[in-house]
Amino acid sequence: MDCDVRVYNPQGRESKSGPSCSGVKVCEDFWSPQLHIYVPSFPKCVISLLLQIPDDKGYKLDLFCVPKHYEEDLDQVIIPHGLIMDRTERLARDIVRDMGGHHIVALCVLKGGYTFFADLLDYIKTLNQNSDKSVPLTVDFIRLKSYCNDQSTNIVKVIGGDELSTLTGKNVLIVEDIVETGRTMETLLSLLSDCNPKMVKVVSLLVKRTPRSSGYRPEYIGFEVPDSFLVGYALDYNEYFRDLSHICILNENAKEKYKV
Ligand code: IMP
Ligand code: MG
Repeated sequence: MDCDVRVYNPQGRESKSGPSCSGVKVCEDFWSPQLHIYVPSFPKCVISLLLQIPDDKGYKLDLFCVPKHYEEDLDQVIIPHGLIMDRTERLARDIVRDMGGHHIVALCVLKGGYTFFADLLDYIKTLNQNSDKSVPLTVDFIRLKSYCNDQSTNIVKVIGGDELSTLTGKNVLIVEDIVETGRTMETLLSLLSDCNPKMVKVVSLLVKRTPRSSGYRPEYIGFEVPDSFLVGYALDYNEYFRDLSHICILNENAKEKYKV
């Protein structure tokens, strides 16, 4: 395959690139710890494959089935549901490969993470049913809130869920929908570290390519996405659009229409 190989620093700035791939680009990110290749110019940094949705990549709404009540609210489909599922299947395989053999507690970050969480766990269950090795899986939930309209409030609030103290000594897999600045995940990781889990890994379906990033990167990333406000597949704008299957870019009219 004619592939684009890029190396990014934690803020997402490109530092090195190679040939190009049509449509979605596969990039190498030296920051993520699950990577398996050492980059000579960054000794000691292991790198992993990153599936990058370019800024100019999107599909017209008319090409897909979108609920009638949202037709006027969306600019483009940027990740169709089928592609989300295919990528999630592979994330499940990578996670079982790395964390398998131990009991995993999958911690769902509500509400945005619930669809990804359910689909990811279904794929892990399928792997468990069809291989010689299997990994016991239990679930926990935490509810965090940091957004109002399309803006981060800078304050991450825990507004419900299970007691984190039950995670002491456990191998925890945090399942999140999207990392933007990284503040939500850094706050949760800090709360969790007070409870002394044995191991913590984070899987986020999406990571935004944004200058507002603190540099935090999860161990497992589904897609790196453009710096736009995204909805669908349980990602919401003031609670709307969770009932949309594809991940789409919200248009400016809708931001006004659903504003609180
Ligand atoms: P962070 O703390 O800036 O990394 O933001 C992470 C949280 O903000 C996510 O868990 C989401 O709940 C929310 N968020 C960030 N960007 C988006 C978006 O584009 N659409 C929907 N929710 C988002
Ligand atoms: Mg979230």
